Amino acid sequence: MDVNEIFINSKYELNQQIKHKIMKITVVGAGAVGATCADNIARRELAEELVLLDIKEGFAEGKAIDMMQTAALLGFDTKVTGVTNDYSKTAGSTVAVITSGLPRKPGMTREELIGINAGIVKGVAENILKFSPEAIIIVISNPMDTMTYLALKSLGIPKHRIIGMGGTLDSARFKYYLSVALQCNPNDLQGFVIGGHGDTTMIPLTRYATYQSLPVSELLDQATLDKVAADTMVGGATLTGLLGTSAWYAPGAAGAALVESIVRNEKKLFTCCVALDGEYGQTDICLGVPVIIGSDGWESIIDYKLNEQEQAAFNKSADAVRNMNSVLTEMKLI
Ligand code: 2OP
Repeated sequence: MDVNEIFINSKYELNQQIKHKIMKITVVGAGAVGATCADNIARRELAEELVLLDIKEGFAEGKAIDMMQTAALLGFDTKVTGVTNDYSKTAGSTVAVITSGLPRKPGMTREELIGINAGIVKGVAENILKFSPEAIIIVISNPMDTMTYLALKSLGIPKHRIIGMGGTLDSARFKYYLSVALQCNPNDLQGFVIGGHGDTTMIPLTRYATYQSLPVSELLDQATLDKVAADTMVGGATLTGLLGTSAWYAPGAAGAALVESIVRNEKKLFTCCVALDGEYGQTDICLGVPVIIGSDGWESIIDYKLNEQEQAAFNKSADAVRNMNSVLTEMKLI
């Protein structure tokens, strides 16, 4: 083999590697949550190309340029492109994160958004699949459990490719409140929140929460544990009251953490809203349970044994979410 041949061959191999490596991710909705999610994805170089799409003329373009102007400061090499409603630019995405729709205003529940956001989310998801038929869909839009169910029922793609983000965020909030009570580093905590992503439907599983393997129930009294759980449940509403709109740093980071586990095939455990088929005693519903997230989407459900009280709370949560889901049928969306 002469030198030229070696050069041509190695160039071919390099091209093959580059071709293999190309990872494109789309974030729909360039509002606070979508832009924060995109920013996290870019900074962590989870994609070679990141498309940020919004319906508002020029908005995603502006956010993308602003983000790209941090590249030379932060040292990332993800190319962020902003587009106004042009789904052809999202073609070939491995993951699409849907954040579209209205956020909560103070005093508003996530559930009150259903009428406005359902039509938007359905249209967005269909457009994504038109250009990226293999995409894994992460749903952030509220009411998240119902929007995830809408995606499941209307898109006709395998259930493993539809992931609702809610429990990932709620579990991070749970760890935050636990870390304040224990005055410890949140990274030393394990704990998760199952059930719906609603102020009254989520279930912080205090019994399973640990500080470096030590049950938190051995470190905090019952009144403090109850307060941590209560604060977690209204974590989103507390921030909506303080900010005048929904939170964005933690919701955006939660979306990006799921993207990371997918694109790096990390197989990490997160609580996500997924289709249940008998697991945790529920069927025909999307609800938050612990799942393994990897390159195929949610790959398996981890079956933590619930006690009677926890199972009753989970069933109650399912009833409330099912009730909300029935609006989709009334709206003729599924
Ligand atoms: C929250 O809880 C946006 O639903 C999200 O902040």
